[in-house]
Amino acid sequence: MLQELPLTPPSASTFAPQVDALYWFLVILSTVVTVGIFAAALFLSIRYRRRPGVAPGNIEGSLRLELLWSFIPGVLAIGIFAWGAKVYFYAAKPPPDVMDFYVSGKQWMWKVQHPTGQKEINDLHIPVGRAIRLTMTSEDVLHSYWIPAFRLKKDTVPGRYTEMWFQATKPGKYHIQCAEYCGTKHSGMIGECYVLEPEEYQRWLSGNTGEAPEVAGQKLFENLRCVTCHMAGAGQRGPELAGVYGTKVALEGGGEAVVNDEYIRESILKPLAKVVKGFQPVMNTYEGQVGEEEIMQLVAYIKSLKAQGGGKQ
Ligand code: CUA
Repeated sequence: MLQELPLTPPSASTFAPQVDALYWFLVILSTVVTVGIFAAALFLSIRYRRRPGVAPGNIEGSLRLELLWSFIPGVLAIGIFAWGAKVYFYAAKPPPDVMDFYVSGKQWMWKVQHPTGQKEINDLHIPVGRAIRLTMTSEDVLHSYWIPAFRLKKDTVPGRYTEMWFQATKPGKYHIQCAEYCGTKHSGMIGECYVLEPEEYQRWLSGNTGEAPEVAGQKLFENLRCVTCHMAGAGQRGPELAGVYGTKVALEGGGEAVVNDEYIRESILKPLAKVVKGFQPVMNTYEGQVGEEEIMQLVAYIKSLKAQGGGKQ
């Protein structure tokens, strides 16, 4: 019966039981409070109904009662907040050995790129038991990447990266859908997430050739002539990129920026927005020359560059 009419989607990530526990706690708590209020209202309205010849007495406040009904809900509310914060922090911080996948939404399809370069449309094949991070963007309008079985949903936003991570716990096939109305075929913007055993995932990978994003990024970097300003040695016109990822750089006009995916993306499309201190605002925009997939590849390449001179990072 429950299988034909499931109350909740399957639970298939390490995140799902945490969300479910909090969700069911809230449902049960709300039910208990609601039933309690209705029962009390019914009971009191009968017990103290108007009777002929009985005048209502003079009612004084009760400090004890008032403290009690402030204190208990107060503790419950703070408890719910703390619990929610714990789940939120878990969702916000992926473990260090995370695998990076890239997702790009487009009217009306999902484009995915694997860490090893394989690409797929709408579907997502992943290994079970591995932490997976999705770095996502959109090529046109707002979409939202939603995998109910993993209790995972986040908007994909044109012009910006959003991230989420998860670890699937059960092999199987789980529905993916777009959760943000994005035009005529919004409801058709669906796919399946295939959670595979590690060997099966390897087999799937070997059946689909692809170029690792950092390798594709390096080719682009050369074809777009980025090398002439960023890898020309001493006195070059643009800042050195090796080892720069994850560091903080000082900016012309004051302030600083953390070199992350977002900053690199902005610097490719709007190079003059945040110029590194000591450099001239001479770079041209690459807007229109590179699409979202290419930008992700360039970012992956710059990320892969280690500092020169025996620098291990
Ligand atoms: Cu994409 Cu709705």
